[in-house]
Amino acid sequence: MVAGNAQEAVVRRDSPEPFTLVIFGASGDLAARKLLPAVYRLFRQGLLPEQFAVVGFARTAMTDDAFREEVRQALDRFTPGKAAAADWPQFASRLFYHRGDYSDAAGFAALRARLEALAASRHAPCNTLFYLATPPTVFAPIAEQIRACGLSAPGERCDGWARLVIEKPFGRDLASARALNAHIRNAFAEDRIFRIDHYLGKETVQNILVLRFANALFEPLWNHKYVDHVQITVAETVGVEQRGPYYDQAGALRDMVQNHLMHLLSLVGMEAPNSVDSDTVRSEKVKVLKALRPMPRACVASNLVRAQYGAGEVAGQPVPGYRAEPGVAPDSITETYVAFKTFIENWRWAGVPFYLRTGKRLAARVTEIGIHFKPVPQVLFNAAPFGPMAPNVLALRIQPNEGISLQFQVKRPGAGVRIEPFRMDFGYAAAFGGEPPEAYERLLLDAALGDSTLFTRSDEVEAAWAFLTPILYTCAEDQFAALPTYRAGSWGPKEADAMIEADGRQWTVFKRPAARKGREG
Ligand code: NDP
Ligand code: BG6
Repeated sequence: MVAGNAQEAVVRRDSPEPFTLVIFGASGDLAARKLLPAVYRLFRQGLLPEQFAVVGFARTAMTDDAFREEVRQALDRFTPGKAAAADWPQFASRLFYHRGDYSDAAGFAALRARLEALAASRHAPCNTLFYLATPPTVFAPIAEQIRACGLSAPGERCDGWARLVIEKPFGRDLASARALNAHIRNAFAEDRIFRIDHYLGKETVQNILVLRFANALFEPLWNHKYVDHVQITVAETVGVEQRGPYYDQAGALRDMVQNHLMHLLSLVGMEAPNSVDSDTVRSEKVKVLKALRPMPRACVASNLVRAQYGAGEVAGQPVPGYRAEPGVAPDSITETYVAFKTFIENWRWAGVPFYLRTGKRLAARVTEIGIHFKPVPQVLFNAAPFGPMAPNVLALRIQPNEGISLQFQVKRPGAGVRIEPFRMDFGYAAAFGGEPPEAYERLLLDAALGDSTLFTRSDEVEAAWAFLTPILYTCAEDQFAALPTYRAGSWGPKEADAMIEADGRQWTVFKRPAARKGREG
């Protein structure tokens, strides 16, 4: 099937002005796994200006050439088959490394001199995109050093802009997020700050608004009159990998819910913005977060389940339990799974439960949003001898096998009336071919262009924390209560099933993941 008959409204994007990307924490995992491969792919697609450069900054001692070699190896590992092509020397010549300590003023003064010399040698303005890819403990000190050495206001000494991209996690709770916001806004104006959440860079996440507001079909039904409930599942098969020390201090609520799941929830729940302008879209998202029904202490036990994976099997391979992972405390009480029910208290969603769940080491990797419509009245086809019938479900498959499915009832051909649910399926790969672009490509390009629509605004991050912080405090107070476990490779703890089943509903992933048999799917 070809998607070409559609009316195409292509908003053409300019190429960014010449700029230098400074990656703090350039010796780390994120830089190697995601950032540098994304920059390389943008370069290969001709989406970067001729005079761009990357300066890696970290404490590890390295020459420019050693850094280039590290990058080449990272590309080999993380963009298999695509790295070290004929254009590698051109790309490598734009890579530089600067050793420094994150709180050392002299190191930043030297960085400034280096950036100015680089810009001058390329006859380019001093545009700089600073990317904080370090552990969060040094986010604020780095922002302060950038400010103190005058790099956050390049216009005062040479033409150009300075922007700050900041990784997650953005704080540990509302108070620390507010404090971090205050620190970084001391160095950069809000419109120069790009708080990254890579879920917003995913094509399928961007398509949520297009599906809702570019079609007449769905929006009239997208409310409490027709929607019975909404499910958001973000399931991973991976464990904590090499990130045990970080994850053990975070847990699923901080690592996934506060950011990725809250963005999915607000995109599904928001009202139509009256323009695609970044502030208009984000203001509507904030309203959803502010309308979430608070979960007081007494409600946490019945509306939220936390759990931790035990040993099990994933893809036919035995895997250890969470407490046996490297870098994790053997008596850890950090959750690797969370499921909860929430409500958006407004006119559109009054009384509609939103069930969200996320976990590591689950049976399949699947991120999916299910809009479960109300059943038709129990007469005619939804009554004996035909019914009961499965209600309509619209499933947005965020990943993998990206697409959208709609389940509706059809009459099976033949004598008599036999009604069956049928799934109409749209798949991105079949419609458009190929893999969707990596989220980090889109986000890096947007930051270089100064478009902050797909980044989290300060009030958005604080509204998400305002909802979650009391829950985190309740969980922390209950830390000696038994934390349920689930077998690695399963669909999570039975307590999460019991929570939704108490409401007469079931967890569903609409598209059956390949290896899965049974109820899910
Ligand atoms: P790393 O632990 O690999 O740290 C990155 C670099 O920061 C290191 O190479 C190191 O460089 C420096 N560093 C490490 N520890 C410290 C410290 N205590 N004080 C100062 N510098 C330190 O982190 P990641 O690359 O995994 O993550 C970077 C950021 O990105 C984090 O905020 C993380 O939460 C976020 N993130 C990471 C993801 C991933 O998949 N890795 C996914 C999503 C977000 P040097 O010692 O040379 O200075
Ligand atoms: C990151 C989390 O933000 O998102 C990880 O820190 C998680 O723990 C990852 O594995 C999931 O991202 P994706 O794109 O694989 O769904």
